[in-house]
Amino acid sequence: MASKLFPVSRATRALRRFPLPTPYRSFSAAPQRSSDVLMIHRNKPTNNPSIPFKFSDQNLKLVDEILKRYPPQYKKGAVMPLLDLGQRQHGFTSISVMNEVATFYTMYNRDPVGKYFLQICTTTPCQLGGCGSDAIVKAINEHLGITPGHTTKDGLFTYIEVECLGACVNAPMVQINDDYYEDLTPESIKTLLTALKEAATTTGTKVPAPGPLTGRDTCENSAGLTNLIEPVWNPETMMRKDNALDEQPQQ
Ligand code: FES
Repeated sequence: MASKLFPVSRATRALRRFPLPTPYRSFSAAPQRSSDVLMIHRNKPTNNPSIPFKFSDQNLKLVDEILKRYPPQYKKGAVMPLLDLGQRQHGFTSISVMNEVATFYTMYNRDPVGKYFLQICTTTPCQLGGCGSDAIVKAINEHLGITPGHTTKDGLFTYIEVECLGACVNAPMVQINDDYYEDLTPESIKTLLTALKEAATTTGTKVPAPGPLTGRDTCENSAGLTNLIEPVWNPETMMRKDNALDEQPQQ
């Protein structure tokens, strides 16, 4: 904008007489802030999903190493080093590299999913804990009428089986969108699914709060306190007062 400090120069006035064609690229002596490469994928003979890509055996060992650095709930953080590894092996991050990396993660949906995306954990602790995840999978199959990897006809529910989600202490459990529901039983998962379905169609429907569905707050012992049950040690009464030693009778 022209001002006393920055008057419109003669050159600018001259340029205004010749409107720039659209679209146009400005030029600058400063370094480019973003890549000049077109960021839309278009299939090419050298870059299309039918070109196979698999990590080499040696790189698969590195993949394991990289994944070990991330706690279970943050494995998705490994996506950048894995893309880098794929790029180093293939030469560039092709669509096949991206697809291969995305298959490591259940959190990247490569197809549309329902309004509620259920990820039921079927790893050993969830298989053995409580009623066991087999019973939960069976209850979901019965209730929704679909098997893992499918979406209900009304588009509300998609469900898949996943590996440990890091809540083994409250097994069996399911992640629904971003929430964990734990301490599941066949009855509680069916009640939950019914409530979610109602909530999708009727405003004001109450859905159980995420967390353990047995009434526990977190992962406290369901049998109640079994240790640390003595009164809390009170430093006020138990600690020696200042100068208490001076007041003791001399022997
Ligand atoms: S085994 Fe299911 S949450 Fe860990």
